[in-house]
Amino acid sequence: SQSARVAVMGASGGIGQPLSLLLKLNPAVTHLNLYDIVHTPGVAADLSHCETRAVTQGFVGDDQLKASLEGAEIVVIPAGVPRKPGMTRDDLFNTNASIVANLAKAAAEVCPKAFVAIISNPVNSTVPIASEIYKKAGVYDPLRIFGVSTLDVVRANAFLGEAKGVDPADVNCPVVGGHAGITIIPLISQCSPKIELPEDKLKAMTERIQDAGTEVVKAKAGSGSATLSMAYAAARFTDSLIKATQGQSGVVECSYVASDVTEAPYFATPILLGPNGVAKNLGLGTLSPFEEGLLKAAIPELKKSIAKGVEFVNKNY
Ligand code: APR
Repeated sequence: SQSARVAVMGASGGIGQPLSLLLKLNPAVTHLNLYDIVHTPGVAADLSHCETRAVTQGFVGDDQLKASLEGAEIVVIPAGVPRKPGMTRDDLFNTNASIVANLAKAAAEVCPKAFVAIISNPVNSTVPIASEIYKKAGVYDPLRIFGVSTLDVVRANAFLGEAKGVDPADVNCPVVGGHAGITIIPLISQCSPKIELPEDKLKAMTERIQDAGTEVVKAKAGSGSATLSMAYAAARFTDSLIKATQGQSGVVECSYVASDVTEAPYFATPILLGPNGVAKNLGLGTLSPFEEGLLKAAIPELKKSIAKGVEFVNKNY
């Protein structure tokens, strides 16, 4: 059967470890490279004992960074610091911007054709950062760089299913825009199955989805942000990328990508995935007046975060 070579960058972290476990359990994965600045030899040794075929190898520290990316077809990036209570995703910018830029620089050099799936926050800025690094390296392909916004869809499905007594596994609610606060735009009017909520409940549900990350940050009381659900969402997204590369048709995931759907140059929408990455941007569909209002509020915020990422690369790289 076909190969699927995946590298996880930041594999020893709260997201990185459960994500690596889920990928090790994915029967489609043939090679799993785990990179971090600490602990990856142990994580890899441990995971390699699971009786699945993915050949699992650990790489640690700067000296082994390039080797970890050799032959990768999909590079998943959860490296970086997580939020503490009272922090927004944007507060992570200063630390995570350079981590993502340096990893992207190495990937652009070693595996320029690989799909890149970015988890490190603020995703609204880190995806533009990686893209600018690829542009500077002369290997930019907008169809191959993805922000993992899958957790917003996963949360919308979970909360809507719970509210309506429907198995969340049967709910599919597109979530568009960005991956932070008011830039997160759940399109509940396009949910399948159709879910009707009275206006006050619709507003409360929308806000819960937008603030769901903070719900976890508060509950974890200083020990970090979403890790297990984020790992699940990233494993689901990675699996979809693998299916698309292996020729399965009709694979759709919402993802934050370079976009001309709105005025924001990066924007999450449902994306039809194919062997070369984005096969077709499926756009926004028809929005309700309420969703139009959310979109209007999101765009300026999103444009600011994108500009900040672009500026960071122009100033420092
Ligand atoms: N290269 C590779 N890995 C790195 C680097 C680097 N330059 N810098 C830090 N790391 C690793 C850390 O060693 C750690 O193992 O990234 C991992 C981050 O793990 P945690 O601190 O547990 O953070 P986590 O909760 O996994 O969140 C990581 O994902 O959702 C986002 O906002 C979240 O930006 C944060 C990121």
